[in-house]
Amino acid sequence: MRKDLIAGNWKMHATHLDTIQMVQKLSYRLNDSDHERVDVVVCPPFTALRSAQTVIETDHLRIKLGAQNCHWAESGAYTGEISPAMLAKLSVTYVVVGHSERRHIFGEVDADINRKVKAVFEGAMTPILAVGETEQERADEMTEERVRSQFVAGTTGLTQDQISSLVVAYEPVWAIGTGKTATPEDAQNVCGFIRDLAAESSGNAADHMRILYGGSVNPGNVAAIMAKRDIDGALVGGASLDPDTFASVIRYWV
Ligand code: 13P
Repeated sequence: MRKDLIAGNWKMHATHLDTIQMVQKLSYRLNDSDHERVDVVVCPPFTALRSAQTVIETDHLRIKLGAQNCHWAESGAYTGEISPAMLAKLSVTYVVVGHSERRHIFGEVDADINRKVKAVFEGAMTPILAVGETEQERADEMTEERVRSQFVAGTTGLTQDQISSLVVAYEPVWAIGTGKTATPEDAQNVCGFIRDLAAESSGNAADHMRILYGGSVNPGNVAAIMAKRDIDGALVGGASLDPDTFASVIRYWV
């Protein structure tokens, strides 16, 4: 019922020239049946979106384009920011919102993240809302409390249809870029908890909402993670930068 989604978050890596090569190489390693099974998304930096769009459209690729962040307003005096409308014009279809690096390094708070989630929907794109606890919060057994507050605040005011099409990425902060992954069981427990939270407010819409796991996903651990009931995909950082490695993550069943 829920189609797998595997997204590469390239973070602040890849010029527009690198991006053209990376998208092309990735496309050579994927076939139509892979795309039937998995929605494949790449999220390069803003400066590379136009080049990625051109390659995807010129070569009729089935790779989808995502952005790593956006502002909530359509336009205005917000120096250095990028609006949802600008992204939509570049054929961007997914936008990561509330990544832990945005929260922890750049001070984004839940209220802003909620405005962004709504703005992405208003721009006819799909938000990938990222949530996750820090190492200290996990040690203090506050994982569920933290994830609950981030999810509830991030999705405040959404309709049931929006919850159905929302993508949530559960990324424990201590697993990002560290080589430490949550065990598949721990990841399932939190992803199942998130689906239950969505069901509390939005009923059946929760069954359609896709939940990704992120944090040191690689070709060696992805299959066990994807086998879990409430995990519908992965948000991949480091392992998405090499097209061969990323293709192995996407084709996790091979
Ligand atoms: P890594 O896969 O490098 O741990 O990064 C995860 C992440 O932050 C994806 O958004």
